[in-house]
Amino acid sequence: MCKEMSFCRLRTHQWCFLLFNVLLFHALLFEQARKLDMNAVRANDTHWYVISNPRVCTDQDVFLLTLVFSTPENSSRRENIRGTWANRTHVQGFLVQTLFLLGSSHSPTTQAAIMVESKHYADIIQGWFIDSHKNLISKTVLAMQWAVTYCPFARFILITDESAFINILALGEYLLTLRRHPEDLYMGRVVHQDMPDRDPRSTRYVSPNQYSHKYFPDYCAGLAFVVSQDVARKVYVASSGVVAPVPYDVFVGLCAQRAGVVPTHSFRFSGERHIHYNICCYRFLFSSADVGTSELPLIWNDLQSKGNYCNRQGKQKANNFRYSK
Ligand SMILES: *[C@@H]1O[C@H](CO)[C@@H](O)[C@H](O)[C@H]1NC(C)=O
Ligand SMILES: *[C@@H]1O[C@H](CO)[C@@H](O)[C@H](O)[C@H]1NC(C)=O
Ligand SMILES: *[C@@H]1O[C@H](CO)[C@@H](O)[C@H](O)[C@H]1NC(C)=O
Repeated sequence: MCKEMSFCRLRTHQWCFLLFNVLLFHALLFEQARKLDMNAVRANDTHWYVISNPRVCTDQDVFLLTLVFSTPENSSRRENIRGTWANRTHVQGFLVQTLFLLGSSHSPTTQAAIMVESKHYADIIQGWFIDSHKNLISKTVLAMQWAVTYCPFARFILITDESAFINILALGEYLLTLRRHPEDLYMGRVVHQDMPDRDPRSTRYVSPNQYSHKYFPDYCAGLAFVVSQDVARKVYVASSGVVAPVPYDVFVGLCAQRAGVVPTHSFRFSGERHIHYNICCYRFLFSSADVGTSELPLIWNDLQSKGNYCNRQGKQKANNFRYSK
């Protein structure tokens, strides 16, 4: 009996100690994130960036910064996006800034074209790492670094991919409702109890040596997720301590977990799923995956039309929408 009691007490004690350590770790990370000084990056930006575009956010009160993961070769898709969903620059008077994030290309011709494109639109950020699937974690860390360095007053940061459709208006309006609590936000389509791929033949293979747990922590699917500025700082600080070669969205989840940030699920993000086009649904949702280059302008033009035939939940009131796939 006595033995059991002391065992219990010891366990409680150990448990308290563990909890204390976790809290202390989060507090230290919080302090580090708060005090983060990005002057060293700013003073030495050619070390990190081929194109850093340091002045896009200066003197602008950016509400939502959108960073689109794009590939060097895909200038036509960027054009496609500029002309459609990224052409929305304000939501209820609040500024929205959309930029493309690229890695480097082996091809000098492609690089020359990117320099011209960047000069023309001033909406490109480029890192030195080769743009590839395997460097997506580098891209993610660069995205966080750029946001906290060059756009430190943006309230929210959306990370997305060029293959997606994003409804900036719906997302911006939602984020405006959080005006009183614009912190501690890591929101997207939350993937729960995802397991590492243990098949060595798979491209997503993660060996047990690299990541030993059975499950990944909850994380937001990479196609589109939002973080508040403080979370971008925390993820950036925590990223230097996370080395597991996991998919990049899982990586963000691991950093967030380290920083004590819990993901918030919103079903208005589609995750990796393409949502079949329907005007009411698309007015309501925040993102949809794999929206084709010819489909994007059709959707966009349709959404620009006035007419209020959808209710607040994205259901159609009457069967009078025009474009349908
Ligand atoms: C720039 O940063 C890198 C990495 O932190 C460092 O190795 C390099 O010496 C720095 N260069 C200058 C000029 O400060
Ligand atoms: C964006 O929209 C404006 C009108 O609001 C239009 O004049 C402009 O041409 C559009 N930009 C692109 C790249 O289509
Ligand atoms: C450009 O991006 C679109 C959308 O993700 C994709 O369908 C297309 O294959 C890409 N093209 C190139 C050249 O990478």
